[in-house]
Amino acid sequence: MQIIIAILISYLIGSIPSGFLLTKYVMKKDVRQYGSGNIGATNVARVMGLKAGVLVAAFDILKGYLGVLVGQTILGGNLSTAILFVAIAAIAGHDWSIFLGFSGGKGVATTFGVILRLYPLAFLIYAVIWLGLVLKTRYVSLGSIIGSMSLPLTLYFTAYDLKHVIFASLLSLFVMYTHRANIKRLLNGEENRMDPENLGKS
Ligand code: G3P
Repeated sequence: MQIIIAILISYLIGSIPSGFLLTKYVMKKDVRQYGSGNIGATNVARVMGLKAGVLVAAFDILKGYLGVLVGQTILGGNLSTAILFVAIAAIAGHDWSIFLGFSGGKGVATTFGVILRLYPLAFLIYAVIWLGLVLKTRYVSLGSIIGSMSLPLTLYFTAYDLKHVIFASLLSLFVMYTHRANIKRLLNGEENRMDPENLGKS
């Protein structure tokens, strides 16, 4: 019973659509109708500017972190299988939010929050790859996708239990699935770049 409660709370935390709420109530705009149509920090930055994007990124990272923390508090045990399910619930909440008719974002920031709490080293490696690729190519999606591939690799070399490698592979697969339109655009050379001078203008 406790595990169901923890999963539900984590899912509800993940479901809070911060990017949608911020743009809707501050700018009276539905962010889903601009830029990539995503509710995440990248698209909020396109529509409202860098500060708003950073705010949404921070909130969405916090959702993942808190989701895991709630699970660990209710269930005890830091890296149990149950906690991993609770972590997935936070990301699923962001990607398929109950408050947006089971649609949502792409889950990268919330994944960052989850792994920050569970595996700080994997977080650091993903963050460095993400930042490096974004700064070099200006494709945020490329950083998100390629960076996520480091998760199972890092866990393979640092975790003692195969379940963590499987869990990390799942997180990476989630990111690839939610970025399927970005992958098509990247392959066709049509992906939106994050040019600082264009932020806040979509
Ligand atoms: O985290 C989302 C990012 O990887 C891509 O965002 O808006 O360009 O699809 P977007």
